[in-house]
Amino acid sequence: MWRQLAYQSVLKSEIDETVVAEILQYANRRNPTLDITGMLVYHQRRFVQLLEGPATNVRALYTRIEQDARHHSVRLCAERMSDERSVPKFAMAFFTPDTALRELVGLGFVLTAAQVKAVVERLPPVIAACFVPFLAEMGCLKLPPRHGSSAS
Ligand SMILES: Cc1cc2nc3c(=O)[nH]c(=O)nc-3n(C[C@H](O)[C@H](O)[C@H](O)COP(=O)(O)O)c2cc1C
Repeated sequence: MWRQLAYQSVLKSEIDETVVAEILQYANRRNPTLDITGMLVYHQRRFVQLLEGPATNVRALYTRIEQDARHHSVRLCAERMSDERSVPKFAMAFFTPDTALRELVGLGFVLTAAQVKAVVERLPPVIAACFVPFLAEMGCLKLPPRHGSSAS
């Protein structure tokens, strides 16, 4: 069984966005040693991240991330146990629509809008719900119609 955990947070206003590339490099080096896979989405100073792997490692990493002084307003969005990983191929997949940051990170390491959409469509619903509104805001996904909303 694997633990999957998704949270959101906000990059501190005094910190330069280029730090996102550093965080990503660090995660891609470190996560394989912890048997952790995941996905980080970033846009306009906000993060949503999925971490998945052995329960104790995921919890310990989340505790470290929560205490990371580079961001604030860290809020757990969803947590569940699962028989399968959702992003088994990625130490830390990354998506941002922000052109300068995509180039800084290196286009080869950044998911395309079509790729992130395909990943999110395969996520378990409670985890997908953490990413969908954020990606919809970026124009990468359409929000499903709200139950009870009228087309009239
Ligand atoms: C938004 C965000 C995402 C992060 N994701 C990871 C990650 O996936 N893996 C990781 O090892 N560190 C990640 N970090 C960095 C950790 O917060 C922490 O700096 C790092 O694990 C080193 O901690 P340590 O020096 O106490 O071991 C992230 C930080 C931020 C702000």
